[in-house]
Amino acid sequence: MNKDEALAQVKEKLTAHRYTHTLGVKETAISLAKQIGVDSEKAEWAAILHDYAKFRPKEEMKTIILGEGLDPDFISYGEELLHAPAGACLVRDELGISDADILRAIMWHTTGKKGMDGLEKVVFLADYIEPNRNFPGVNAVREEAEKDIDRAVILALSNTISFLLKKSQPVFPKTLEAYNDLIMTKHK
Ligand SMILES: [Fe+2]
Ligand SMILES: [Fe+2]
Repeated sequence: MNKDEALAQVKEKLTAHRYTHTLGVKETAISLAKQIGVDSEKAEWAAILHDYAKFRPKEEMKTIILGEGLDPDFISYGEELLHAPAGACLVRDELGISDADILRAIMWHTTGKKGMDGLEKVVFLADYIEPNRNFPGVNAVREEAEKDIDRAVILALSNTISFLLKKSQPVFPKTLEAYNDLIMTKHK
């Protein structure tokens, strides 16, 4: 499968709005990858495929997560978390994507986790700041990303955590771990 074929597969499975978002993530991920010396081919592939499972039936995604023995917190902390881990499994099984780095970047693109590698950070951040995104605080993260990717990831995580706290919603434990990990590393 080449990238055009992958994009065609994704386009078929997403709304027009979500497909436009995916194209934005693709361009942003390539640029961030070049900025920090991460494999931009892998970043492009992960970005193209990151929301592959976005519109799958929730029950199907839950079955996949349980069947693969993945973190059950993906199921209990809100349905918007399902498509990242389920998507990593589905692009492997349906599209034959076998690169572990790409699959991991897809798996963690919504929540983040402790010890993210460069590719995981690039896809997480590209998903957050791609040009079609428009929500309070996004410009500050864009500005930070031009200077320091880690600080931009910290800001994105802290925005997400604050948003959840304000709405009295639970915080996925590995999102907190991601924040703690990066903030403590940066302050050493
Ligand atoms: Fe997503
Ligand atoms: Fe996305």
